[in-house]
Amino acid sequence: MRMPFPNQSLQRGKPGALLLCALLFYVPILPAADAPPAAAIASAHPLATRAGLETLERGGNAFDAAVTVSAALAVVEPYSSGIGGGGFWLLHRAVDGKQVMVDGREKAPGAAYKRMYLDDKDNVRESASLEGPLAAGIPGLIAGLAHLAEHYGRLPLSQSLEPAVRLAREGFPVNQGYRDMVGWRLKSLQKFPDTARLFLAGNGVPEPGHPIIQEDLGNLLEQVGLKGAGYFYQGPFAKLLVDGVRAGGGIWSLEDLQNYSVVERAPIVTEYRGIRVVSAPPPSSGGIVLTQALEILEHQDLVGVDHITRMHVVIEAMRRAYRDRAVYLGDPDFVTIPTDRLLAPDYLEGLALTIDPKRATPSAELGDTPDLAQRGENTSHFSLIDAEGNRVAGTLSINLPFGAVFVPPGTGVLLNDEMDDFSIKANTPNAYGLVGDQANAVAGNKRPLSSMTPTFVESADRVGILGTPGGSRIISMVLLGVLDFAAGNGPESWVKVRRYHHQYLPDEVQFEPHGLVAYEQEELRKLGHSLKQASYSYGDMHAVMWDRKNNQVFAASDPRGEGKAALLPNK
Ligand code: GLY
Repeated sequence: MRMPFPNQSLQRGKPGALLLCALLFYVPILPAADAPPAAAIASAHPLATRAGLETLERGGNAFDAAVTVSAALAVVEPYSSGIGGGGFWLLHRAVDGKQVMVDGREKAPGAAYKRMYLDDKDNVRESASLEGPLAAGIPGLIAGLAHLAEHYGRLPLSQSLEPAVRLAREGFPVNQGYRDMVGWRLKSLQKFPDTARLFLAGNGVPEPGHPIIQEDLGNLLEQVGLKGAGYFYQGPFAKLLVDGVRAGGGIWSLEDLQNYSVVERAPIVTEYRGIRVVSAPPPSSGGIVLTQALEILEHQDLVGVDHITRMHVVIEAMRRAYRDRAVYLGDPDFVTIPTDRLLAPDYLEGLALTIDPKRATPSAELGDTPDLAQRGENTSHFSLIDAEGNRVAGTLSINLPFGAVFVPPGTGVLLNDEMDDFSIKANTPNAYGLVGDQANAVAGNKRPLSSMTPTFVESADRVGILGTPGGSRIISMVLLGVLDFAAGNGPESWVKVRRYHHQYLPDEVQFEPHGLVAYEQEELRKLGHSLKQASYSYGDMHAVMWDRKNNQVFAASDPRGEGKAALLPNK
């Protein structure tokens, strides 16, 4: 059942909404509890986890540590997130229970327009939304970090950014994940010599251990620490960025950078079998799709049935929830999202009733709607809690590995290709098979729809923090994680859950290698499902849990990735 929590957003420059939103964000959610016995961080890279611990050891809180981990990930995972990209940070402040999502998602440049990636014949221009500066939205990461430090942190921004400055200047050693990502985008990287110089070795894939040094990025982070976000968004550095983008064929303006601001948005909150689930609101599709799927499943028996039937109804719930994503979701500052209708209990009960336990429902039978976009795979996530019980679930992205593979000269900023998260042409797959709808069409200053789903789960005695990269599959991975929390398991289990996915269209159950064993595949086929095995294991979940009953903290990183979970016991 959904909690009475209207989907309001607090936006800078809208003072009328301020009081209402301030009230909405203060949610008395849990009975008074002791602080956790340890802080914990799980992130996609050991150096980012270590950097976050350093900030906690210096007296920073979870929000300072979130700044450090985000900035460190921007340095050591240039393929997943970065200063040239954006992200969502879901926050829980222990002192007053405030819960909010800081939206640092990129915005389309003001000169963007609906047909900007199409040619005269209405064909999609190959790679235009994926490579080079035309593919890049106005970055939100720096604004997000400065907002976290200013409104929630305890340390000066310069101190929280310091570990990332060091990593950029001293370099970090290439690992296998880095090599894999370079391999994926090698041809693109080789087209841009400045980018290739930074991230390749001898114009090829660097050997393990090869140091990646980013002097310009280190200088930028240091100056942002000293002078604030204005250093990036205004003045000579902004001009350097805009000049570089425009010289490369992009359409950014100084006003685009100057006018960028983060938005604080009320999370989507639901209750599933006594567990409170708090997740990302639009412009992420995560919270709404997750809530729809959970509420559909609330009407199903998941315990008294065999596990194939359980899998089947979970798939059917995914199918139905992702269908509405395709049609209705986009930037809430641009399109009216019928959130109340999409989350109405009778609507979701109706969807639940359409599930036949003995047969897959062909997606075509659910009605005529546009196809759903298959998102890019690369993004990053971290989860953390501090010793006071402050929490952050942060999911950050530059979209495809190495984003737009373009660095405006002299800036050290690897640009995102988040513009490809828009529907660049309705119902028409782009180069990566992406299709979408009108609500998510390109427009100037609009935020592209995301699937990033930073999430909290809260029961009477346990609190969980989770999220993952993985494109459109992010939401189904978080759903499977939440269901595993509901089954009583901890984060070491959530991150390992075998993954399967349905997103309405294409009408197939996707699964990672070993995600479905042969018997499960056979049984699901008998129920009428088409199955498609992904060529690789997907996702990279990082999760933390505070068991308040036994006063223990757990953290886990996905065995599919190279991340690191660590605890910092209280002194
Ligand atoms: N770029 C991935 C997402 O935001 O969904």
